[in-house]
Amino acid sequence: MAEVRYERATRIYPGTDAPAVAALDLRISDGELLVLVGPSGSGKTTALRMLAGLEEVDGGAIHIGERDVTDDPPKARDVAMVFQNYALYPYLSVAANIAFPLKIAGVKKAERERRVHEAATMLGLTEYLERKPGQLSGGQRQRVAMGRAIVRDASVFLMDEPLSNLDAKLRVQMRADIAALQSRLGVTTVYVTHDQSEAMTLGHRVAVLHNGHLQQCDAPRVLYDRPANRFVAGFIGSPAMNFLDVPLGENGSVSLGGVDVPLPDDVRAASSAGGWSDLVVGVRPESLELAPEGISAEVQVVEDIGADAYVFCVTTIGGVERKLVARSSARRAPERGARVALRPVAGEAHLFDPISGARLG
Ligand SMILES: Nc1ncnc2c1ncn2[C@@H]1O[C@H](COP(=O)(O)OP(=O)(O)OP(=O)(O)O)[C@@H](O)[C@H]1O
Ligand SMILES: [Mg+2]
Repeated sequence: MAEVRYERATRIYPGTDAPAVAALDLRISDGELLVLVGPSGSGKTTALRMLAGLEEVDGGAIHIGERDVTDDPPKARDVAMVFQNYALYPYLSVAANIAFPLKIAGVKKAERERRVHEAATMLGLTEYLERKPGQLSGGQRQRVAMGRAIVRDASVFLMDEPLSNLDAKLRVQMRADIAALQSRLGVTTVYVTHDQSEAMTLGHRVAVLHNGHLQQCDAPRVLYDRPANRFVAGFIGSPAMNFLDVPLGENGSVSLGGVDVPLPDDVRAASSAGGWSDLVVGVRPESLELAPEGISAEVQVVEDIGADAYVFCVTTIGGVERKLVARSSARRAPERGARVALRPVAGEAHLFDPISGARLG
């Protein structure tokens, strides 16, 4: 078990200009489950492969425990990786697949059997040990791949979208299994996904990447409640946060649908120093209410999800058409085509710098 540190770790692929991972600073505590999340191409796999030793580090350093492993080969790093395409050996039994890394490492047969049995018990695979991968379901195959990582007793687990081949229901189940297993084993784990809801439910902390740059690394609750910038605010949460460019009033405040959004002093100061004419206001769907008065909008789609409904609306602000999503109780949701008024819940709006997108206040 070990702490993992990226110190301004950078990867620039040959023939490209922009780094795939740019000066990444990240510290993962011993026993922590950290999720790396971001859109496609944001550098998640590259960051993971740098840690595994499968990708060169062009700048900065990577530490595992006390050791600087930046120039160490993969074998010397004591990490176990589970890939999206978990590539089991089709002609080997489940037991032999799980035992494979131990065999390579020259572990004796009796010890191999003991560890395979232990991993299989943990993963609920004991009754399948003699089967071939082709005789297993997708979820069972995924567990075999996990087993292959577990038996190695590595100090760090790396997982790159390990559940993306599974259907939605199984994914949710396996997610819970992985969380339970990780906490039981207490092995430092870096888990990559592009799915923000998977990141939020699984990670002790979540690191958000965008274009190779770390945007924020925090507990899921903090990412949701206090996103560091507009990118994180829009990426975390579903449906996404609503953003509106709102003109700054004469008194230096902004008003949205008749609700005044008070500006903290430092925001006022920044806005007058920057000479801004407007601010970006972010409102989550659950912080946008259907009210007797507010922003006038037309309902385009109502998505009923059981107790709640998401009401997708369109409005015109300053001559520009804008889409807004509000959450309502499903039983009181308006009809498609209805005219409604939307009002942000006081005190629940987020403010962002109109130029840099950084959080204000
Ligand atoms: N071998 C390579 N040579 C050149 N560029 C590469 C190479 N591998 C990846 N890239 C580029 O580096 C960037 C980051 O890629 P990476 O695979 O790390 O993204 P990702 O976040 O894992 O995306 P996804 O969610 O699609 O898996 C992308 O712009 C990609 O095109
Ligand atoms: Mg990837």
